[in-house]
Amino acid sequence: MTKIMLPFIRSDLAQFTAYKPHPSSDTAESVPAQFDRLDTNESPHDLPPELKEKLAWTYQQVIETNRYPDGGHETLKDAIAQYVNESSAISLSNTGANISVGNGSDELIRSLLIATCLGGEGSILIANPTFSMYGILAQTLGIPVVAVGRNETNFEIDLKAAQAAIEQTQNPPIRVVFVVHPNSPTANSLTAAELAWLRSLNEHILVVIDEAYFEFSRTTLVGELAQRPNWVILRTFSKAFRLASLRVGYCVAHPEAIAILEKVRLPYNLPSFSIAAALVALQNRTLLLESIPQTLSERAKLIEILSQQPELQVTASAANFIYLRLKPNSFDSQDAALKTFHQKLRTLGTLVRHISGGLRITVGTIEENARTINRVKAVLANLEF
Ligand SMILES: Cc1ncc(COP(=O)(O)O)c(C=O)c1O
Repeated sequence: MTKIMLPFIRSDLAQFTAYKPHPSSDTAESVPAQFDRLDTNESPHDLPPELKEKLAWTYQQVIETNRYPDGGHETLKDAIAQYVNESSAISLSNTGANISVGNGSDELIRSLLIATCLGGEGSILIANPTFSMYGILAQTLGIPVVAVGRNETNFEIDLKAAQAAIEQTQNPPIRVVFVVHPNSPTANSLTAAELAWLRSLNEHILVVIDEAYFEFSRTTLVGELAQRPNWVILRTFSKAFRLASLRVGYCVAHPEAIAILEKVRLPYNLPSFSIAAALVALQNRTLLLESIPQTLSERAKLIEILSQQPELQVTASAANFIYLRLKPNSFDSQDAALKTFHQKLRTLGTLVRHISGGLRITVGTIEENARTINRVKAVLANLEF
């Protein structure tokens, strides 16, 4: 195709590339059925047939496709508030005043950026490696991203560097700190030192705590929200609740922060079917979350067995994925070895995520995990660099 000029486009966008979903999240045709898709931290289990039937019935009998969705999300927000209260033994308002819902938590991340930093008013702080969308979305909005590192052993944030960044970043100053609890890709929960630092940040800085993997870690900071109006918590239905295809995320925060998020979101950001699915998932949470103990025991098995491989350094995990790196000096060319490791796993039929000098592997079904172990061993046995 001939290249044309689009002189009306913002000049800074020229340097970005469009977010490309990993091959495993492409259309069904491009993903051979035999791949174990362990690269995006989804649940390996689809919704049970009886819930799909219930949703199909709702689609046929209740949803009027010619009508706009419920743009206020009141029923869903109330149901989420109840779940949040019950799962963290606290009592925020049960009326949804503490909740805003988004088209995936990705949408909420963008809304938070729009509400805080747009127009040259603020920068964001992240600690790499971490979830990439904070930086990607900030850049597409022209918001500067300040990145600090982490301890190479336990992946704790470099708190000295983070504090220095807060004190020294000007024009614009840091307005938002993003942390993930537990972090992706490194799978570690926030440490006591990290928490103490987050608590020390004053009311001029928004602290976003992304608890996308809460149902696996069972640790939450929701209980602190009442004392900390500058904190917000993000959660998603894409992981433990098995609804990645339907794009539902939510934010828990002080009602005033929620009111701001409501101001900047699109009026009908969630399709009626997604709202219905999230409600069905919450009503059937006991059934859906029954698979979590198996995921946790499978995670322990994966970590134990893969840690016995002399070339691998496997991190402890509080999420539904594990993170591993090659031990220093196990190969002459570590980067090339890791790249080949990743590619060979793919050739054998296991998709994992190659990220920040390591591999992130989702805990799958029992059968998938057994194949992961066999394939990792097979690849390592023949890896020469
Ligand atoms: C830390 C973290 N936050 C948010 C998301 C995105 O969630 P959603 O599907 O709700 O947009 C992910 C997805 O992988 C994630 O790892």
